[in-house]
Amino acid sequence: MSVHVQNSRMTTAKLRQMKQNGEKIAMLTSYDFTLARLVDEAGVDMLLVGDSASNVVCGNQYTLPITVDEMIFLTKGVVRAAQHALVVCDMPFGSYQVSEEEAVRNAIKIVKESGCDAVKLEGGEEILPAIRHMVQAGVPVMGHLGLTPQSVNQFGGYGLRAKEQAEADKLLHDAKLLDEAGCFSIVLEKIPSALAEKVTKAVSCPVIGIGAGNGCDGQVLVLHDMLGLNQGFKPKFLRYFAQLAEEVKGAVSTYVSAVKDSSFPNNEEAY
Ligand code: KIV
Repeated sequence: MSVHVQNSRMTTAKLRQMKQNGEKIAMLTSYDFTLARLVDEAGVDMLLVGDSASNVVCGNQYTLPITVDEMIFLTKGVVRAAQHALVVCDMPFGSYQVSEEEAVRNAIKIVKESGCDAVKLEGGEEILPAIRHMVQAGVPVMGHLGLTPQSVNQFGGYGLRAKEQAEADKLLHDAKLLDEAGCFSIVLEKIPSALAEKVTKAVSCPVIGIGAGNGCDGQVLVLHDMLGLNQGFKPKFLRYFAQLAEEVKGAVSTYVSAVKDSSFPNNEEAY
């Protein structure tokens, strides 16, 4: 049994092979055991415990407040659920920017305590020494370029990135550096499709897009957004694959009515 589970688990080597074969990679965020189990069973290749948990789980406006220990707590549940997908945990803001040493220590803590397969960090050349040290320490690292929400205060919002040539050139340069440093994959967020396609062709590791067009090796979305749970949030790149907000509210209001009119529980639902 355990041999079967081992063999069916996604690995960074299999992801690289998928890129080489032109097989698209599907990734979604997950933050808890119950939904992660469904997402894993439905066949995603990677589960990302994104620091978007700060928004969708904790209700914060930004990703900035979430901590290493909170990310570890959430990731443990996702790891317990994942039978097939590779589990990536976001390193939160402040956990890798201060020094390379602290970055590696936090990456190792996240892997040891949560049981995840890999970590993700936002940024390019400026965090390269930290990435090199993590890779040397045996931690698989996913990069993240373009719109990097941990820098929202520097960007002044969540608009499209790398529209101008200088920023596009820097992004391509950064992607090549991350690839050479040993990142097993790179996320590109909210950049023009033509640039994302150019980056995808220029690097050997799989590139996963979000709001980066169809030329990437794979796609990622925030689970709550694509399930239609986050009503009112509908950027151009997002497709609702379900309308669960309506389903949930409908079920709950039916339950409330059934309690109020005493039709729940009925005799079959009682001991
Ligand atoms: O935190 C997150 O959900 C992410 C994805 C949007 C890529 O980083």
